[in-house]
Amino acid sequence: MTAALPRPTQDPWRLSVAPMMDWTDRHCRYFHRLLSRHTRLYTEMVTTGALLHGDVPRHLDFNEEEHPVALQLGGSEPHDLAACARLAQQWGYDEVNLNCGCPSERVQRGAFGACLMSEPLLVADCVKAMRDAVDIPVTVKHRIGIDKVESYDFVRDFVGTVAQAGCEVFVVHARNAWLKGLSPKENREVPPLRYELVHRLKREFPRLTIAINGGLGDDDAIAAQLQHLDGAMIGREAYHNPWVMATWDARFFGDERAIPDREAVEEEMVRYCEREAARGVPWPHVARHMLGLRNGLPGARRWRQVWSDHRLKGEPASAVYRQARSYSQASSVNTPR
Ligand SMILES: Cc1cc2nc3c(=O)[nH]c(=O)nc-3n(C[C@H](O)[C@H](O)[C@H](O)COP(=O)(O)O)c2cc1C
Repeated sequence: MTAALPRPTQDPWRLSVAPMMDWTDRHCRYFHRLLSRHTRLYTEMVTTGALLHGDVPRHLDFNEEEHPVALQLGGSEPHDLAACARLAQQWGYDEVNLNCGCPSERVQRGAFGACLMSEPLLVADCVKAMRDAVDIPVTVKHRIGIDKVESYDFVRDFVGTVAQAGCEVFVVHARNAWLKGLSPKENREVPPLRYELVHRLKREFPRLTIAINGGLGDDDAIAAQLQHLDGAMIGREAYHNPWVMATWDARFFGDERAIPDREAVEEEMVRYCEREAARGVPWPHVARHMLGLRNGLPGARRWRQVWSDHRLKGEPASAVYRQARSYSQASSVNTPR
């Protein structure tokens, strides 16, 4: 631990990669774990309906290497959420997180996600039911407001009410969700980021663990947030530029043991692709998550083109790797890894 770190390095929520639908599946999380041993990883949101009426192993199976890993649930019915939290615990997840931040219309029709922020008492009931059902932490991810509600009091009352039900960890995406007129993508870009409101929450609720999310990625920006808050959650930057994670263990967790080696990470992903192929998973399902691994290096574009070339999908991953490597090697002479 270095003196510059504002809080103990073992804080479980110090850094995390955000839940992202279609992106943070188990293959993606396996890859991210090779880049950081300590960063907490979140699943994609799984709805209570999908879990209670669908294929549970398909939604919940994960690789042991992924720990610490949190399951994010979407739902608003306390009994169903409790049943799903129980499943999460049985499956070995380290945390179960309730989504109160997703603005999509489909989610609004299901009356969960961000629209739950206008029903803090219901969220409190959900949290209580989940906490009664499991021993693992039950956490909430939410926004700072919905639609045009700009007042701090709204998010303060939400957090206060949900905390009374026993929730001790809040991950706050520091912008409003506009429930009408914006697509989910626009809802991650258009409503302004207001970090100060999240800092104020921490000052007002010093005993709660408060992590901030939205627009972060650069190490210095993360470090600046950790001066005020217990944690930072990073979404798109971690996905698109995964190599940013390579410094996180050393800088944010005081663990200097091993800065990962980019080539070794790629080689391990090839072995992983081959293990998955034996279970019937085609390598492009895995490789699509690592296309940003060489961003910024010479030859990265050609390398990425090989790993995303579906005409090669009948080839084993090791053959694709050899082809991709010819580009990274040809252009990486004298280039630091
Ligand atoms: C493709 C994609 C899918 C997402 N899916 C979810 C989700 O399932 N649950 C959730 O709480 N947030 C979801 N989000 C929002 C992110 O978790 C995060 O709050 C948002 O991207 C802001 O963080 P960032 O600026 O670091 O990307 C998603 C974001 C993206 C880009």
